[in-house]
Amino acid sequence: MIRLKVNGQTHELDVNPDKPLLWVIREDIGLTGTKFGCGMAQCGACTVHVDGEAIRSCVTPVSDVAGASVTTIEGLSGALGEALRAAWIAEDVPQCGYCQSGQIMAAAELIAAKPHPTDADIDSAMDDILCRCGTYQRIRKAIHLAARTKAGEAK
Ligand code: FES
Ligand code: FES
Repeated sequence: MIRLKVNGQTHELDVNPDKPLLWVIREDIGLTGTKFGCGMAQCGACTVHVDGEAIRSCVTPVSDVAGASVTTIEGLSGALGEALRAAWIAEDVPQCGYCQSGQIMAAAELIAAKPHPTDADIDSAMDDILCRCGTYQRIRKAIHLAARTKAGEAK
């Protein structure tokens, strides 16, 4: 049995220890907001937080994160989560939407580490989260807006 805390809820899971965290989240826990893109740590669609750090869940065996605290897009809460959601809506970011939970989880890690990220900070942090629809300019605007909202500076 593997014990995993996901979005604050503890799960005891009878799964193969080598099963990727992505599929445990989607199939065994039933949270489908985290997406499968490449399965090779190349696209970022599967990004979740483990103890606050953004990781690629498609290449992370669930046994590697046993006992850790996992946050998925469904559990991204608090002032930062609210600011990101509002900014994504205000800037009308998603197109097909497939990559966007990964984008938002990466953005959350960035703003938590750098409350006022520069364009260069954003480009560097978001560089390897791919968007086939090319929403990168709107993502950048939304991250600036979310950072200002979180800091209480947005009008
Ligand atoms: S599905 Fe994990 S990085 Fe692409
Ligand atoms: S919004 Fe379609 S892949 Fe990013």
